[in-house]
Amino acid sequence: MKTYIWTFPTRIFHWLLAIGFTTAYILGNSDNLENLHFAFGAFVGILLIFRLLFGLFGPMYSNFRDFPISLKSQKEFITTYFSKTKIYAGHNPAASVVMLLILIVGLVCGISGYLLYTSGNNGLNIGISEDFLEESHEVSANLFLIFAGIHLLGILADVLFHSKTGTLQSIFTGYKNIETNSARLNGFHKVFILFWLIIPFYFFYLAYGLQINTKEKKSENNEYYEQDDDE
Ligand code: HEM
Ligand code: HEM
Repeated sequence: MKTYIWTFPTRIFHWLLAIGFTTAYILGNSDNLENLHFAFGAFVGILLIFRLLFGLFGPMYSNFRDFPISLKSQKEFITTYFSKTKIYAGHNPAASVVMLLILIVGLVCGISGYLLYTSGNNGLNIGISEDFLEESHEVSANLFLIFAGIHLLGILADVLFHSKTGTLQSIFTGYKNIETNSARLNGFHKVFILFWLIIPFYFFYLAYGLQINTKEKKSENNEYYEQDDDE
């Protein structure tokens, strides 16, 4: 018996997030592809804002209401992990916490990245120091990477110890090998998906076109070379 757990929006979000985050992270460390970095970064940030809303209004299992994060659930999860007495249809308690952490650090990373851009490019300056923004952006990006790594280890453990549940296949097909209630999309969800599929790509386009203050950059470089000459 199979049950439909991850509806289309959750699955498409998942793969867009995985691709978007990996690319933004790699591009963050490149000097000449800044605009592509902004584009992928903004794409990830907007995707996550939609996931946040889907967590509040979305269908069963993708809704935060169905994330078992209480201490009691964590204790039960740890003590019964190998006894296989309890099967989780949606995210298990540990996965639920990791998913929420990914969501939070991803949002902090996107927002701090945008503010970092504006503070260095004569734009909106809300009074947070550039050093602090740079630090927050770097730390949140690295935490994102760490949580994604923990997530993959969790999936690996699931494949090794709970292979019958079919968790890995579920993020491709939507189905797990269990018998319980299926997730269903209502009319509101279907309209919501349209926006979720369009708006992140629009922000990708907008962020790709962000102006970089090359004058400031050039003068910084010149200063650097002048100092070098002095030495
Ligand atoms: C959530 C998605 C994002 C990820 C994973 C990400 C990741 C990174 C990483 C790994 C770096 C290099 C940090 C270092 O070691 O110095 C970086 C730098 C940077 N990012 Fe992002 N970023 C994201 C979103 C954004 C956005 C949306 C913007 C702006 C629109 C942005 C602007 C910047 C800037 C200006 C730097 C250069 C910081 C410096 O001066 O070194 N990032 N980012
Ligand atoms: C950087 C890469 C990745 C990130 C950031 C990421 C993040 C996430 C997030 C946030 C969710 C929760 C989905 C939701 O509730 O909306 C999730 C679920 C899931 N991911 Fe990933 N993921 C990544 C890569 C992968 C890869 C490569 C695989 C497969 C090999 C994978 C397999 C899964 C599975 C099976 C689930 C459902 C887990 C469950 O039933 O509890 N993920 N992932």
